Amino acid sequence: MATEKFKEASPYVRPKPSPPSEDYVYNRYLTNLALKTDSRDPVVKLALFGVGRVGTIHLTSIMCSQRVKLLYIVDDVESNWQKMERYWHLENVTFLSSKQSDRVYQDPDVDAVIVASPTFTHENIVGKALKARKAVFCEKPIADNRGNILTCYEMAMRVGRPLFCAFNRRFDPSYSSVRDRVRQGEIGHVHMIKTVARDSPLPSIEYLKTSGGIFHDCLVHDIDVITWVLGEYPDKVVVLADANIPEIKEIGDFDTVAVTLHFPSGTLGTIDLSRNSTFGYDQRLEVFGPKGMVQVDNEQPMHSVRRQYGVEGPTANPIWYSFASRFADGYRRELDHFVDIVLDKAESLVRPKEILAVSKIATACEESAHTGKVVELKWDGGELPYPQ
Ligand SMILES: NC(=O)c1ccc[n+]([C@@H]2O[C@H](COP(=O)([O-])OP(=O)(O)OC[C@H]3O[C@@H](n4cnc5c(N)ncnc54)[C@H](O)[C@@H]3O)[C@@H](O)[C@H]2O)c1
Repeated sequence: MATEKFKEASPYVRPKPSPPSEDYVYNRYLTNLALKTDSRDPVVKLALFGVGRVGTIHLTSIMCSQRVKLLYIVDDVESNWQKMERYWHLENVTFLSSKQSDRVYQDPDVDAVIVASPTFTHENIVGKALKARKAVFCEKPIADNRGNILTCYEMAMRVGRPLFCAFNRRFDPSYSSVRDRVRQGEIGHVHMIKTVARDSPLPSIEYLKTSGGIFHDCLVHDIDVITWVLGEYPDKVVVLADANIPEIKEIGDFDTVAVTLHFPSGTLGTIDLSRNSTFGYDQRLEVFGPKGMVQVDNEQPMHSVRRQYGVEGPTANPIWYSFASRFADGYRRELDHFVDIVLDKAESLVRPKEILAVSKIATACEESAHTGKVVELKWDGGELPYPQ
């Protein structure tokens, strides 16, 4: 009786509530439910180069998208072709080895290529695809050094086709929400930004041997996140690094890296990087300023399940095990963004000068790790990330 006075009109006669933007899965579902099509949106026809760890993720995103059609798969493990065809029902896809890949470039039906082959193959595939006027989605890094990345972007400019570098963390809903909050001034001028990036599972030594080293293979993700959140590049970096895993030491690489960055506006950044986290894919971001702090913590897929036995207190659920699960949504969203770029519906959110800057900073970090010295970075006006 006491609450009767709070009775409201029927929900059927009140305005329908909207789902929160945070429920991005439901919002995507609503788009699918609405079945709206745009007659200006042709299906983007693709060729996928490399179906290994990350290529399988992109293949999964392709299979989930109604906006693309896969015409070719290029991969040298021919023994997998039939299995892939059966598993994914790819009867209309042509399988080629890298030696036969000219067919992709010569086929006028191919609008775009996705490059998910080993890093040392990127520059060659990117160059040939752009020359054939295909749009390109390329896994990081586009090439092994800044000069070669610049050559690829110059070629993209010359032929007027997009070259998109796949920094997937930018498309993760939590990371992009932190960036939006920082950019809206929620914490004021940033005093400290930190990332923790610990890989899981440990990549194979075969992969590491051709990865280009931890700075250009792994650290680039963190440098990209930090500079993308801040909209600023560091003027000093100092790095300590070591290899605790003998096989990694043997190939002259590092598995444990601590980076400190200084930014001209007074912000400090740190990156805590490891190749081998045994408790799952440990990926965190923290941004601190005079008004407070915003963080991305690790997600636990079974967080709603609570277990408590004996007297030892509750048992925590594991975090996501690896990039394929932690960033599954980000990978789908980055493919969707690429399709928008190809269809001229969006400008690339990943800009060439940002990618060139990330490579320059990664090289400075590598130098600092080898020399033990603070490395200073100079930027000319054209390199800076403004206007945003
Ligand atoms: N964004 C991310 O989260 C992420 C994660 C892992 C790897 N990567 C990047 O993706 C790339 C591939 O890494 P991976 O871990 O998937 O490697 P991988 O070794 O698991 O797979 C590479 C695949 O490419 C095939 N291949 C080799 N040469 C080829 C060529 N010339 N043309 C076409 N295919 C070829 C191989 O047969 C293999 O199937 C690397 O550049 C790496 O830096 C990105």
